Amino acid sequence: MTNWNDKTVIVTGAASGIGKACAELFADYGANVVLSDLESSAGEEVAARFRDEGAEAMFVGCDVSNPEQIQGLVDSAVETFGALDVAVNNAGVRGDMMPLAEIELEHWQQIIDVNLTGVFTGMKAQIQAMLDSGGGSIVNVASVAGQVGFPDVAAYTASKHGVVGLTRTAALEYSSQGIQINCIGPAVIETPMVEDMTGDEESREQLLGAHPIGRFGTPREVAELIAFLGGDEAGFITGSFIPIDGGYLSQ
Ligand SMILES: NC(=O)c1ccc[n+]([C@@H]2O[C@H](COP(=O)([O-])OP(=O)(O)OC[C@H]3O[C@@H](n4cnc5c(N)ncnc54)[C@H](O)[C@@H]3O)[C@@H](O)[C@H]2O)c1
Repeated sequence: MTNWNDKTVIVTGAASGIGKACAELFADYGANVVLSDLESSAGEEVAARFRDEGAEAMFVGCDVSNPEQIQGLVDSAVETFGALDVAVNNAGVRGDMMPLAEIELEHWQQIIDVNLTGVFTGMKAQIQAMLDSGGGSIVNVASVAGQVGFPDVAAYTASKHGVVGLTRTAALEYSSQGIQINCIGPAVIETPMVEDMTGDEESREQLLGAHPIGRFGTPREVAELIAFLGGDEAGFITGSFIPIDGGYLSQ
């Protein structure tokens, strides 16, 4: 079993949804958890709650589309806890829904900056820190949209396909140096990101129909997969895209 008491974990996008559930699970396991998010007051609040419950948790504000802030996040984790063992690149935005020809270049760039460049700069800083301390594990949160197309979210879909390619390439480069790098592909998970898609009865039923299991996923279920991939039990898994999708991609 993984001894989480000795491990330091960074989770980006930890103020909400999947990232929050993930940080909570690592805190329950006894890890040193570094929560990070663009939304500082919400993130501080979550970290303070974990500390009140006895966890080693700290919050560092960081916009993942800003490379200096990402470096600052990794530096803070290493300075405070001595090393970085697990990094979860989870922060992401879906963007407005519209067909490709209507997307403004500026909007495209914003989505790519957060979802793809943010994972690239995140991994750059995290890999260096892990090389310095002898290894670690990185889990990137992609999507089923990293494998198949999705109408009306071209930038999001392109960014998530990019995350899968980045993950595979980085794994080829660094697995022999003790760093495992994987990504996961959730289908619809009930979080604020998809509230507008799951809110009204008609679109909810339509989306549910695309999930053979007959329901959406929960943030906790995704957190359990991420924690497994970050732990010692997953020691032979690297360069993988692992769906967590209620059968979505099997159709
Ligand atoms: N919910 C789903 O159905 C679903 C499905 C597949 C993949 N995902 C992916 O899971 C990840 C988490 O999404 P979620 O559903 O929990 O969404 P969410 O909106 O609940 O949480 C996303 C978090 O990321 C933060 N964030 C956004 N931009 C940021 C930035 N530039 N820098 C730092 N933090 C930033 C937000 O403040 C928020 O706290 C995303 O990468 C998303 O693409 C979600």
